[in-house]
Amino acid sequence: MRVLFLGDVVGRAGRTAVEDMLPAIVAEGRLDFVAINGENAAGGFGITEAICQDLLDAGADAVTLGNHSWDQREALVFIERQPRLIRPANYPAGTPGRGADIFTAANGARVLVCNLMGRIFMDPLDDPFASIDRILDGLTLGRDVDAIIIDVHAEATSEKQGLAHYVDGRASLVVGTHTHVPTADHRVLPGGTGFMTDIGMCGAYDSVIGMDKEEPISRFLRKIPQTRFSAAAGPATLSGVAVELDEATGLATAIEPLRIGGDLAPAWPSFLGEMPSGLDAGD
Ligand SMILES: [Fe+2]
Ligand SMILES: [Fe+2]
Repeated sequence: MRVLFLGDVVGRAGRTAVEDMLPAIVAEGRLDFVAINGENAAGGFGITEAICQDLLDAGADAVTLGNHSWDQREALVFIERQPRLIRPANYPAGTPGRGADIFTAANGARVLVCNLMGRIFMDPLDDPFASIDRILDGLTLGRDVDAIIIDVHAEATSEKQGLAHYVDGRASLVVGTHTHVPTADHRVLPGGTGFMTDIGMCGAYDSVIGMDKEEPISRFLRKIPQTRFSAAAGPATLSGVAVELDEATGLATAIEPLRIGGDLAPAWPSFLGEMPSGLDAGD
């Protein structure tokens, strides 16, 4: 079974990359399940109902969120009627939406998708370690569900690695999101969980984490906002990670990054076969 997780989609550049490239990747890579972090999809800040639908129409089976979940206020309302939109599970009790849910993949597999938020250099939410224990309680991978995919939306690499090791052997894939920069440490952990500390963003990398460069630089220099942050419009890189899962155990047998287009060096997972023609032009 083949699963793809794409990192934070930032603004129109990121959305266009997803819409242009994901359908061919799903078809030619014969993907069974695709998840995307959509917390920055609306101009860099949050997600609207229409944009969420666009990501689903492009091939996502589930869309996860993070600290920007509610930047577009409509998300607080439409998340209740959009079961494929998953917000961090460790928000306070009473927060709209769901922090985890089980979806049916293209091959019929039952896939649990869960979103957690870190607490280091971020809002003080509920303990993500206790949250994932509660979610996985009574759910055995390979018996009750066929795959368990966890998006750990966190600033600190240590917290993401700690959570990944904590669920090693209990989950199929743990991806880190939020920093918008891909790390080079994708690997299968000793217990069989695929992991990558951060899977990067789908957006324009000639930027400061997806935003036009001028305003972030100005704020570093003077600490005085001159204008709003705006999502960079340049050529976007699609960035994420793919895993191959053992269909009996739900554990990872291979994990490789996927990066296409824009300014980053391309990467195409070998177990997905040939890269679809037309996607490797680097534009
Ligand atoms: Fe983000
Ligand atoms: Fe974030």
